[in-house]
Amino acid sequence: MVLVGVAVGGVLALVAIFIPWLPPADSTQAHKVDDVYWFVTIICIAIFALVAGVSVYSVWKFRAGPDDLDDGSPIHGHTGLEVVWTAVPAALVTAISIYSGVVLTQIEKIPAQHRVVQVTGQQFTWSFAYPEAKVTSGQLTLPVNQPVELKLNAKDVIHSFWVPQWRMKKDAVPGIETNVIVTPTKVGTFTVMCTELCGLGHAAMRARAVVVTQDGFNRWIQQQKQAAASAGSAQGKTLFTQQCGTCHRLADAGTKGAVGPDLDKVLPGKSADFIRESIVNPNAEIAPGFQPGVMPQDFKDRLSTQQLERLVEYLVKTAGKA
Ligand code: CUA
Repeated sequence: MVLVGVAVGGVLALVAIFIPWLPPADSTQAHKVDDVYWFVTIICIAIFALVAGVSVYSVWKFRAGPDDLDDGSPIHGHTGLEVVWTAVPAALVTAISIYSGVVLTQIEKIPAQHRVVQVTGQQFTWSFAYPEAKVTSGQLTLPVNQPVELKLNAKDVIHSFWVPQWRMKKDAVPGIETNVIVTPTKVGTFTVMCTELCGLGHAAMRARAVVVTQDGFNRWIQQQKQAAASAGSAQGKTLFTQQCGTCHRLADAGTKGAVGPDLDKVLPGKSADFIRESIVNPNAEIAPGFQPGVMPQDFKDRLSTQQLERLVEYLVKTAGKA
């Protein structure tokens, strides 16, 4: 039995030593989290070894002989022993609490200089908005070695943001804002995963997190801006053709309506505010030769705020071209 025990123990010890238990630690926070993890684990291993050692020794040393049919001697406990096995775990649990508390304060501290990214979880995707650059993407791109505050939000049910290599993980909850502070230290591609069971697509709720150099980050932001701009003006043009083309002529969109003013003539030089007002409140100013009340007055309800802005952007751009 002793030989078998030693053999099994040896194999398990080798497995424990040679398996990389944790994913690579690729953020400044990850190293601190790992330190707490190993601190707790080593205490657990030491206590387990102590308890298992005493048990095995007792089984071997105090085993009743084959002809020993007596009852065991009556024991009333041992005050000293009880004080020790209460005081030692209390001290260990206190140490773990204090150490964890200190590390938690460190990794959740918001640095003075940091970038903000708005993270939104919804069944079953993540989206990442960069308020400074006014860019939104389905991919989280961050510059290496720079602290970022991810402000988490959810549209429908509770989700949970996690990139294993960064360790930092937190729930995204509808109606409140939570945050994660992270400083990625390694360039590469990682996986953002949802770790809160949020519906049928939960297992597929993943996104790419890409850590790049500062130059790479600037380039990515520029690309996103250009992509958004061309998508925006295409959408604005389509909206114009569908919603306005029957009544208004505009060469850029190829519409020939003649019910309302010819926009090729009246649009040049008009500001975004004037154009927006003319769409949502057409009676505010009537072009010479036209009657009030002809253009529908419910475009504010027909169009979403974003559609209205796309339409205005498109018309401002077209007005500038003419
Ligand atoms: Cu979102 Cu699971």
